[in-house]
Amino acid sequence: MISKSPPLCMYPAGWKLLAMLALVLVIMVWYSISREDRYTELFYFPIAEKEEPCLQGEAERKVSKLFGKINPLHVPALLSPLCSYSRDQPIFLQLKDYFWVKAPSAYELPYGTKGSEDLLLRVLAITSYSIPESIQSLKCCRCVVVGNGHRLRNSSLGDVINKYDMVIRLNNAPVAGYEGDVGSKTTMRLFYPESAHFNPKVENNPDTLLVLVAFKAMDFHWIETILSDKKRVRKGFWKQPPLIWDVNPKQIRILNPFFMEIAADKLLSLPMQQPRKMKQKPTTGLVAITLALHLCDVVHIAGFGYPDAHNRKQTIHYYEQITLKSMAGSGHNVSQEALAIKRMLGMGAVRNLTYF
Ligand SMILES: *[C@@H]1O[C@H](CO)[C@@H](O)[C@H](O)[C@H]1NC(C)=O
Ligand SMILES: *[C@@H]1O[C@H](CO)[C@@H](O)[C@H](O)[C@H]1NC(C)=O
Ligand SMILES: *[C@@H]1O[C@H](CO)[C@@H](O)[C@H](O)[C@H]1NC(C)=O
Repeated sequence: MISKSPPLCMYPAGWKLLAMLALVLVIMVWYSISREDRYTELFYFPIAEKEEPCLQGEAERKVSKLFGKINPLHVPALLSPLCSYSRDQPIFLQLKDYFWVKAPSAYELPYGTKGSEDLLLRVLAITSYSIPESIQSLKCCRCVVVGNGHRLRNSSLGDVINKYDMVIRLNNAPVAGYEGDVGSKTTMRLFYPESAHFNPKVENNPDTLLVLVAFKAMDFHWIETILSDKKRVRKGFWKQPPLIWDVNPKQIRILNPFFMEIAADKLLSLPMQQPRKMKQKPTTGLVAITLALHLCDVVHIAGFGYPDAHNRKQTIHYYEQITLKSMAGSGHNVSQEALAIKRMLGMGAVRNLTYF
């Protein structure tokens, strides 16, 4: 007969194992308490980035009071959450909308394309309008608009900035040499000919979208001569833009002037038809925030804001030694823009990463 003795041998081993585990636990606890940082690592699961959750369409919802009644003819899909590209929602201009001229624009540049259609057609024929798959496929899109302000100096925000789904930069703001403060990722860069960096390959990533914000018809002409290598035009710019500009035409996009119109009309209450003498227009920065509010679910800003008007010595950019004086005659009202940004911060549509 086989004896039914209990497997006694199991018990001592079991106790030994338990005792070992207890000992290991005690050592772990002692070790972790003795090192605060270790303690946190072991007993708290790190919550990704300690950031608030990304809520689809949140930015747009919050700012809807400001943007109010948007002409539905313009952008029917404005109220949908959209990092994803929709055909009804042209972020960038595309050839098909001009080839058959379905809805002629009500305004001239910079608020519309009236009168510039022929030039534009030639530009759209050689550029693209698609939004990269990597952005389209995001369920919820967190964006940061990086202004060029002096407050980015020594901010050490580089790593924080690089973590956003989309990093939108402005004009000729450099990245090389400033990575620690401004990051190195650039998803989109908004610019116009006079503000184009002379060395775009160094200051952008190979897949950065270079988004032309056209202020005048000559801006379309400039990009056409660059991309098609036609005879350059030197007149008609307030500052000499690059004559040779080493970019891949596939990176170029033309921003829908709609965003300039919204920034001017809804954020700054500027009249759309102004007398020649008092032509005022939004800065590229304000246009970028307006774009981000439509494109992204979460919008943060960094490096926005100018020194007080009486502060004549303070430099305004993180990368060059110019003061507010250089803004005179630019057609931008920076104090009025500051009020508009304050309002957006107040309603929680936008959040600041640097003092504003
Ligand atoms: C940034 O830091 C450097 C070195 O610590 C310092 O010399 C410089 O004054 C700082 N710049 C600003 C704008 O604070
Ligand atoms: C700029 O805006 C401020 C605030 O809205 C206003 O008081 C000021 O007159 C404006 N300046 C110009 C030159 O239009
Ligand atoms: C945002 O700006 C406000 C002032 O308007 C400031 O008190 C706050 O510290 C800023 N936030 C950051 C993260 O710098």
